[in-house]
Order: sequence, then structure tokens, then C-alpha cells
Amino acid sequence: MTNSSAGYGALTKLFHWLIVILFAAQYLSGNIMVAIGFNAEFAGIGTNTYYNWHKSLGLVALAVAIFRIINRRVGQLPPWAPTLSGFEKKFIHRVEQVFYTAMLVMPISGWLYVMYGHYGVNLFGLWEMPRPLPRDDTLRDVFKWVHIVAGWVLLAAMVGHIGLVLRHQLFKKDGLLKRML
Ligand code: HEM
Ligand code: HEM
Repeated sequence: MTNSSAGYGALTKLFHWLIVILFAAQYLSGNIMVAIGFNAEFAGIGTNTYYNWHKSLGLVALAVAIFRIINRRVGQLPPWAPTLSGFEKKFIHRVEQVFYTAMLVMPISGWLYVMYGHYGVNLFGLWEMPRPLPRDDTLRDVFKWVHIVAGWVLLAAMVGHIGLVLRHQLFKKDGLLKRML
């Protein structure tokens, strides 16, 4: 279940692909809801529903990220793939730091943004969550920009990460992808 010298454990693989799916949904819903604006519809789904699902899935992603961080500290990280160059190892190390930071910063900044804006979170359209923070327009704007800028930084890291995996998988044909399957 956990990482070992033989490779990544089942939990790491499960969390990895769960976060890939959740983040894909977040980028899609985030950009759709901002692009269509209020009281609009896209693919038969209204703006409010996009917002509810974006916020709700974002909080689910936060829970997954916390479990993933705990899981990363359990067991032993597998050795580097032998086909990685020294530069690639440094690059992967930095990208992973950005990923683990972003997995926390994205949902927390999103939540703080909607709390200080007093917009609230209607969890999956079923439950209006408490709003423990006072309304503050300056902090609302600060966290909105943290959310947007961190989203772009994370996107750049993802392009680098996927590019490196594809380069190894398709051109070096060393089966790097198999390590996470
Ligand atoms: C967990 C990962 C998350 C990711 C990857 C993510 C990503 C994004 C992206 C890409 C956008 C579009 C930004 C733009 O170009 O304007 C966005 C917007 C937004 N997100 Fe998230 N988000 C996450 C979690 C959350 C959470 C947990 C909340 C709130 C509880 C939230 C609230 C919002 C709101 C309100 C907007 C609209 C921003 C605006 O008005 O421009 N997000 N998000
Ligand atoms: C289609 C997209 C993706 C593919 C094909 C992919 C593939 C991989 C592969 C093959 C590895 C193992 C590399 C090694 O041998 O050490 C890996 C590791 C990793 N990936 Fe991805 N990945 C994708 C998207 C993402 C995204 C979106 C994130 C984070 C937001 C992410 C975070 C990580 C992290 C942190 C590791 C290191 C292992 C761990 O601590 O979980 N990946 N990925």
C-alpha cells in the first residue's frame, strides 16, 4: 500500500490520479464559470452550479491532499528512475515542491477568498457551510489573486511535469509512466 524501495505504493498511485482528475475538473469549471459570468449557462449547467461544484470539489481535493502528504511521509521513497539525468532530478524535485505547496495553497486561498467575500460555500448544492470569517474586501481581493496566480504557477509546473514524463515515455521509451500505474 505504501511507498517502498520496490516502487510507489497503491495509495500514492490512487492519490496521484485522483488529484489529476480533481484538478482537471477544477481548471475546467474555474475557467468556464469565470468566462460565462453570472446568470448564464454552459452545456446546460448554470453558473451557480459550476461555482458550487468548483468550491465543493476543491474542498474534497484539499482532504485528498492532506492524506497524500501524510502518505508521502510513510514508508520509503523509491529510488530515482535510472534514466533521469542530474538536471532532471533537480527539476523533478522543484516541481514536486511546487505541487505539494499548490495542493494546499489552491483550495485554502479559494476558501479564504469566498469566506472574506462572504459568498459562502454551498456544498454540492446540499448544505450551506458556516462562514466563520468576517467580511473583508481587501483580504477577499488578496486571496482571489493568490488563487489566480497560484493557478498559473501550478499550470506551468504541470506542463513541465507532463512534458518530462512524455519525453521519457515516448522518446526515451524507458517506461517512466509505468512507475505511477
Ligand atoms: C483545489 C484546487 C483548486 C483549483 C486547482 C482551482 C482552480 C481555479 C481556477 C483555474 C480558477 C479560474 C481563475 C481565473 O482565471 O479567474 C478558479 C476560480 C475560482 N475558484 Fe478555484 N480552484 C481550486 C479550489 C477552490 C476552492 C476550494 C474554492 C472555494 C471554496 C475556490 C473558489 C474559486 C472561485 C470563487 C473562483 C472564481 C474567481 C474569480 O472570481 O475570478 N476554488 N479556481
Ligand atoms: C496527465 C498528467 C500526469 C501524468 C502523465 C503524470 C505522471 C507521473 C509519473 C509517471 C510519475 C512518476 C515519476 C517517477 O518515476 O518518479 C509522477 C509523479 C508525481 N506526480 Fe504526476 N503526472 C501527471 C499529473 C500530475 C499532477 C496534475 C500533479 C499534481 C498536481 C502530479 C504530481 C506528481 C507528484 C507529486 C509526483 C511524485 C510522486 C508523489 O509524491 O506522489 N502529477 N507523475
